[in-house]
Amino acid sequence: MKQGRHVILITGASSGMGREAALQLAGRLHRGSELWLVARRRDRLTELSEELGSRGVRGRVLCGDLLSPAFLSELDERLKSERPVIDMLINASGFGKLGALSDMDESHISDMIDLNCRALSLMCKLCIPYMHRGGHIINFASAAAFCPQPWFAVYAATKSYVLSFSEALSEELRSRGIVVTAVCPGPVRTEFFDIAEETEVIPLYKRMFMADKAKVVRLALRDSRRGRRVSVYGGSMRALRLAAHILPSGVIFFFIRLINRR
Ligand SMILES: NC(=O)c1ccc[n+]([C@@H]2O[C@H](COP(=O)([O-])OP(=O)(O)OC[C@H]3O[C@@H](n4cnc5c(N)ncnc54)[C@H](OP(=O)(O)O)[C@@H]3O)[C@@H](O)[C@H]2O)c1
Repeated sequence: MKQGRHVILITGASSGMGREAALQLAGRLHRGSELWLVARRRDRLTELSEELGSRGVRGRVLCGDLLSPAFLSELDERLKSERPVIDMLINASGFGKLGALSDMDESHISDMIDLNCRALSLMCKLCIPYMHRGGHIINFASAAAFCPQPWFAVYAATKSYVLSFSEALSEELRSRGIVVTAVCPGPVRTEFFDIAEETEVIPLYKRMFMADKAKVVRLALRDSRRGRRVSVYGGSMRALRLAAHILPSGVIFFFIRLINRR
């Protein structure tokens, strides 16, 4: 094992799948490894770090806004001064807003692109120099990456970016023995939809396919260990991925119109 402090860095650790990943990984860490927990809500991160502490794992709170260049520089400086061995980077920070583009706030549009694409890419760039053979990057994309989604257009496009970026990065890092996995779940029961629905209610069919975050994360971690580039939870989402490959977008839009009754 490489000498130095071993770290797993998780963005979006204050809720949902990022938090779940921290809890699932806590049981499997090398002795002395730390979980570095990134998000904006300090109280949530502190509570998680205490929960990890009760399981004998050190969770370090790195509270900040990934939309802020100053916070990214702060993370960069911390990495440069501490030079940890990053065994795993999990990029789970992200958000989506439902609704038509013409009704959407400009700030929501640019923040979705900046957080889901820009910050995620920069986190990879910052962490890769501290990763070694056997390292893992897990990027949360979405099943929304598989095809354009009217009334969720910007979010789906950001997730197509994450999927494309992650697959390309996995090839770039293959010779260095670093595995990159894009996680592409359908709807998952987390706070994600509380935020998404501030602008429009989710269609009923998405509620029908809500998955359990523990199962999605367990599969993501397993797929990453197995060296898979893409992790898709559930038969219906695997079928959607196949359909999106085969069918022209006009046919997919017809079904979306039908389901959304628009
Ligand atoms: N839930 C779903 O249906 C679903 C499906 C497919 C893919 N995904 C993707 O999976 C990932 C995790 O989502 P989730 O379902 O776990 O949602 P969630 O419970 O809402 O978690 C999102 C996380 O992102 C963090 N975050 C948001 N804005 C941030 C910012 N500006 N800077 C730093 N952190 C920020 C939040 O923490 P703070 O608010 O404390 O900053 C939170 O920890 C996201 O990328 C999401 O797009 C979700």
